[in-house]
Amino acid sequence: MTNAPFEPFPYAHAHRREIVWMSQNTNHLVPPEPATNAIRQALDERRYEGYPLAAGLPELRSLVVSDLGLPSDVGCLLTAGGTEALYMLTRALLAPGDEVVASDPSYLIIHKFIELAGARPVPLDIYAPPYRLTADRVAEAIGPKTKMILLIDPLNPHGSGYPPEEVRAIAELAKDHGLWLLNDITYRDFADVHTLAYPFHPEKTLTVWSVSKNCGLAGLRIGGLAAAPDVTQAIHRFNTNDLGVNILAQVAALADLQTKSKWFGNVRTTCRQNQATIREAVAATPGTFLPVYPSQANMFAIDISATGIAPERLQETLLRDDGVFLRAGNYLSPKFGGRFVRVSFSNPPSEIAKFASVFPAAVERLRASAPMPRAV
Ligand SMILES: Cc1ncc(COP(=O)(O)O)c(C=O)c1O
Repeated sequence: MTNAPFEPFPYAHAHRREIVWMSQNTNHLVPPEPATNAIRQALDERRYEGYPLAAGLPELRSLVVSDLGLPSDVGCLLTAGGTEALYMLTRALLAPGDEVVASDPSYLIIHKFIELAGARPVPLDIYAPPYRLTADRVAEAIGPKTKMILLIDPLNPHGSGYPPEEVRAIAELAKDHGLWLLNDITYRDFADVHTLAYPFHPEKTLTVWSVSKNCGLAGLRIGGLAAAPDVTQAIHRFNTNDLGVNILAQVAALADLQTKSKWFGNVRTTCRQNQATIREAVAATPGTFLPVYPSQANMFAIDISATGIAPERLQETLLRDDGVFLRAGNYLSPKFGGRFVRVSFSNPPSEIAKFASVFPAAVERLRASAPMPRAV
């Protein structure tokens, strides 16, 4: 019999009703009524029978733009999650030999897309305070092959947010060097203060947005890109979703964005309380600490390096033995992934209380034991 490695996602999905899902920065705090009512109405009208308007619902596109506070004439593409926009723009704007200044840790799917375009990410180590890029380090990293800067703000996995003056300085660097600035703002709404890069470098800033996290619609797969109209047009050539984004996703996104100002304050407040609960559990667990607190997103990293425990083992025991799903760091960092796990906390407080009650014991269990035997 072979000892197949444990596969967390198939296991977690098979047990999804009893799992506390803290592994993908999904949001389980949004009141469901706006989205479910809108979807129900679209189902009653059998809108799924026809193709949507290929460019997307005009009212949704203009609401996205006004929600971001961007000029009304900016170009706005709707895609199947921000992910598809990230793929399209890297394909459209990068060529073999190009370099992109990025970070480690980072949201590595973007790095993969950069490589698929034949270009090369140049990740700067940021696993030390302030756990994000700085304009000085970006300036040093810019070379003759640099074509783009990747600014994820707030950053996945740390939840570090960029102060306004740093966003401005990085955007001005991009402008001075004629570079694309990829401003991934997926977690923007969770931040206390957030500054878009677009106004500082409107010609070449690519604002990638999503309703997966703020509106809790990850499973519907809708997000997009806002940029100068000539830029969105150039990127749109690489659109494969030619017949438009799922109409049920569009009506749900519209309903949630229309009502977001009514409920998002509660989401943010609960996230802050949940962060504090997790901080207490981490403080009670020798060998662990939070590199960034408070997080400006709905997740952060827990450094476990001083425990000597591999993050994958902690992920596995918490999932299998405690029903709590967090994510080992190697998915977010080639260099530092062995040091941390990432947890998201946009969950009901009762779920976070469960995490807090099992986390210290899980660490102790692994510390005390030999390497975990594999199931045969
Ligand atoms: C930084 C960042 N960008 C983009 C995405 C993709 O989001 P989606 O495709 O669900 O819109 C994620 C998802 O976790 C993310 O963390």
